[in-house]
Amino acid sequence: MALQLGDTAPDFTADSTEGTISFHEYLGDGWGILFSHPKDFTPVCTTELGEVARLKGEFDKRNTKVIGVSVDNVDSHKQWAQDITDATGQKLNYPILGDEEHRVADLYDMIHPNASNTLTVRSVFIIGPDKKVKLIITYPASTGRNFDEILRVLDSLQLTSDYQVSTPVNWKDGDDVIIAPAIDDEAAKEKFPKGFRKVKSYLRYTPQPNR
Ligand code: BEZ
Repeated sequence: MALQLGDTAPDFTADSTEGTISFHEYLGDGWGILFSHPKDFTPVCTTELGEVARLKGEFDKRNTKVIGVSVDNVDSHKQWAQDITDATGQKLNYPILGDEEHRVADLYDMIHPNASNTLTVRSVFIIGPDKKVKLIITYPASTGRNFDEILRVLDSLQLTSDYQVSTPVNWKDGDDVIIAPAIDDEAAKEKFPKGFRKVKSYLRYTPQPNR
């Protein structure tokens, strides 16, 4: 069965542009993002990998390691790295796994045969410090991802893992959040000293508690 939210992220050891990586050990106590791209030396992938390099500082701030993967080998990734720099002005600053034998791709169901028998789709997995899968998104080869959205979800996941809140539609870091319905109003007054705004009995907004 395909990997689902809450499952333990499969562990693996694989070669990368930064040497051999044992996935769980590499992530340590932090968060991780494993993302696949279909193929090296292709246009959309080039823009994506440059953008992830540009955002590396944002992932670092969130104690999150990013790792790319495709079914190309490490030598190919290393050659392509120069093109990524030429095209986007960004130097690769995170590892890309070589996965010619599809070991990681198969573990994470990154090949969708009705899309392509040989290429990985654009998968994103966010993995928590407990090594559980917190988010899975799949994009087609023709659509480049929005990594600002990935950062936004990461902010929500990290906030909601620390506080009994959830984040509303289009929420972004700094916006008001929703108090978990399991907390009654009395308890909410204690837990959320900044107060709350009650729109419905089950919909109560409070300022972001860690701000
Ligand atoms: C691209 O990155 O542009 C791409 C890669 C594989 C298939 C289609 C597009």
